Amino acid sequence: MRQVEKARFDDGFQEQLTELMRWRRDVRRFRADPVDSGTIRSLIEIAALSPSVGNSQPWRFVHVASSAMRETVIASFERCNAEALQSYDQERARLYARLKLEGLREAPVHLAVFCDEQTSDGHGLGRRTMPEMLRYSVVAAVQSFWLAARARGLGVGWVSILDPDEVRHALEVPSAWTLIAYLCVGYPIEAHLDPELQRHGWQDRLPLDSIFEERR
Ligand SMILES: Cc1cc2nc3c(=O)[nH]c(=O)nc-3n(C[C@H](O)[C@H](O)[C@H](O)COP(=O)(O)O)c2cc1C
Repeated sequence: MRQVEKARFDDGFQEQLTELMRWRRDVRRFRADPVDSGTIRSLIEIAALSPSVGNSQPWRFVHVASSAMRETVIASFERCNAEALQSYDQERARLYARLKLEGLREAPVHLAVFCDEQTSDGHGLGRRTMPEMLRYSVVAAVQSFWLAARARGLGVGWVSILDPDEVRHALEVPSAWTLIAYLCVGYPIEAHLDPELQRHGWQDRLPLDSIFEERR
């Protein structure tokens, strides 16, 4: 109880937190400057403060430093992206083809984030009726990582146009680990308040009225 005062954040902090969220972007254009490995470690420590079902902490982070492994991931992206392009018609396909959907070659750091589906930590609490909560916990950690990185001037890009099994095999991780996020991390070459996909006419942000309802 005595710590309540410490856990209070003033108006200035609240405004800055909102600004951080406004400026968080999915980044695909990185400077070549390296990122200190200590910075990545401390970001992972921060991400590990995230909520998780039953306090299971199922997140597993893998720093992909091997260029051979990175090449396998890039090849997976190129194949999956070509297949995705085929699924669109005419104008959408033309638009899709022009989008830059990853910064895999430019990013100094590749980080794969997995969910350990077989963890006994958390003792099953909260997962009996909704087992997917384990994976959602990992997503919560990714979001924490993303914001903490942005606060340190680092950009993060989430690449999901991949074959998850291919990535799992390439990185030689246990078969019980599911790929949740493949992240490109590095210093961005630009800052924008609008999402890249909005800027290039793919998808606008939705108004509050279309995402929020009340039931009385
Ligand atoms: C689960 C998830 C997967 C994503 N996968 C990709 C991806 O493969 N390629 C991409 O360009 N952006 C990807 N993104 C980023 C979104 O395109 C981006 O978050 C969205 O357009 C809003 O832009 P902002 O993050 O800059 O606000 C992903 C985001 C999430 C949350």
